[in-house]
Parts: sequence; structure tokens; C-alpha cells
Amino acid sequence: MSRRKQLYEGKAKVLFEGPEPGTLVQYFKDDATAFNNKKKGVITGKGVLNNRISEYLMMRLEEIGVPTHFVRRLNMREQLVREVEIVPIEVVIRNVAAGSFSQRFGVPEGQPLPRSVVEYYYKNDQLGDPMVSEEHITAFGWATTHDLDDIMAMALRINDFLSGLFLGVGIKLIDFKVEFGRLWNENDEMRIVLADEISPDCCRLWDIKTNEKMDKDRFRRDLGKVEEAYQEVARRLGILPESGPRDLKGPNIMQ
Ligand code: TMP
Ligand code: ASP
Repeated sequence: MSRRKQLYEGKAKVLFEGPEPGTLVQYFKDDATAFNNKKKGVITGKGVLNNRISEYLMMRLEEIGVPTHFVRRLNMREQLVREVEIVPIEVVIRNVAAGSFSQRFGVPEGQPLPRSVVEYYYKNDQLGDPMVSEEHITAFGWATTHDLDDIMAMALRINDFLSGLFLGVGIKLIDFKVEFGRLWNENDEMRIVLADEISPDCCRLWDIKTNEKMDKDRFRRDLGKVEEAYQEVARRLGILPESGPRDLKGPNIMQ
């Protein structure tokens, strides 16, 4: 993890200079934070699991034509990604009321929403990631209306695909957060790609039968068995076989 030049350290990941120009190495830590850094902890093994889960989900999304920054996994905690300019917006997609949505609108957690709802938050820790509208995003120049059209279309496509994928392994995708970045090709043409990570750190995942939480809410709300929940997500996706993490097989489809 040392020797390489460190470019950025976030709450759950570190970015290093990559082996070729235009690439970065994304290192997944075990550190966990919640409520804008007010609660801090360590979830042993989280980095390894999130590296693996995010790799798997980004690869599946690439297969259906969603462009991502992901190139390949390098080892247990690191993956090679394309260097992108992060759009400073956290895009949250909700299928079922939970978390801040339930608090803001007084809707009980677990109530299905009539349709998927997309929300934008300005990525700024000092301000506590305030919720913003398209108007704010375009007025401040964080993204253009064209960028936002792409982002919204991709976010909904990601939601449809991941909802089905998780449902197939007995998990309800309640809500999740994604981030996007700008990637330029050799002709200086820009396209928006999915960046950051998709893992139980940034999704709400509930067991389809028991509604048991299988995500970072276990840490946020001190529910215990946090590591076990992340492991169970990986196991159901078929990427944590008994024989060890290197052994790949397909998802365990529930009947
Ligand atoms: P929220 O209900 O707290 O607004 O969270 C909505 C979803 O976004 C949930 O799946 C957790 C995820 N999320 C993050 O990944 N990072 C954050 O900083 C926040 C606030 C939420
Ligand atoms: N991402 C955290 C959360 O989900 C917030 C933080 O990292 O401070 O609550």
C-alpha cells in the first residue's frame, strides 16, 4: 500500500497513482464512518468484501452497457480504475422509504414508494452534503443539464438492473447512492461514467423474507453482526465461496 504516490484519502478508500497514465489504484479500507464523520469505527474485513462486491457489480453493469471507471481488481483490497473528474454530486435512488427520506417526509421505514425517486446531494463534508435540486447543480456549474440527463438515465438503469440482481439472491434493494465522473477519450470527447464504489456501505439491502438489514445501517444503528452481514451479501452473490475468495462462481439464485 505504501511506495506508490497517494493522491487522496477519503473516509473508506485511498486513491494512489496508477501504473499507467490515466489510471488510479483504489484501495478499500476497513474504516467506517456515519453521520458525516461523527461516528467512526472499523469493520474488520470490510475493505476486502467491498472491493470484491464493487468489482462484481461494476462488471455486471458493464456487461449491460453501463460505462464505469472499473478496469480490474488487482488484489484483495485494491482495484485499478480509470482516472475521472468526479461530478461533486451524490445521486441517491430510493425504492422503499428509509433513512433520511423517512425522517424528512414522515413516511415509515419499509413503505414502498409509488415509483423510484432520485435525489441529488452536493458532495461537501463541511456543509454535511446538503440536498440540492437540478437548478442548484446547473446554476453552480457542477454539471450541465445534458450531464444530468445522462446521470439520471444511468442511475435509473443501474437501479432496475441491481434491483433484479439482488432480488434473484433474496435481497431487496431499498435505496443506494452512486457517484459519476467525467472521462475523456483521445479525441477529447467526454462521457459520464459510473465511479466510486457500489457496496453495502452505500446501499440499503434487506433480506427479502425477514427484512433483516444487510448493510451499513447495522453499523450506523449499532445492530451488531456488521461484518457478517457484508459477508452474507458477498456469499449470496456467489463471490465468497467456502473454498476462499479467489474461487469464483455464479450467484446462488433463490427459488
Ligand atoms: P440516507 O437515507 O441517509 O439519505 O441514505 C440514502 C442512501 O445513500 C443509503 O443507501 C446510504 C447512502 N448514503 C451514502 O452512501 N453516503 C452518505 O453519505 C449518505 C448520507 C447516504
Ligand atoms: N457515508 C456516511 C453515512 O452513510 C456518512 C459519512 O461518511 O460521514 O452515514
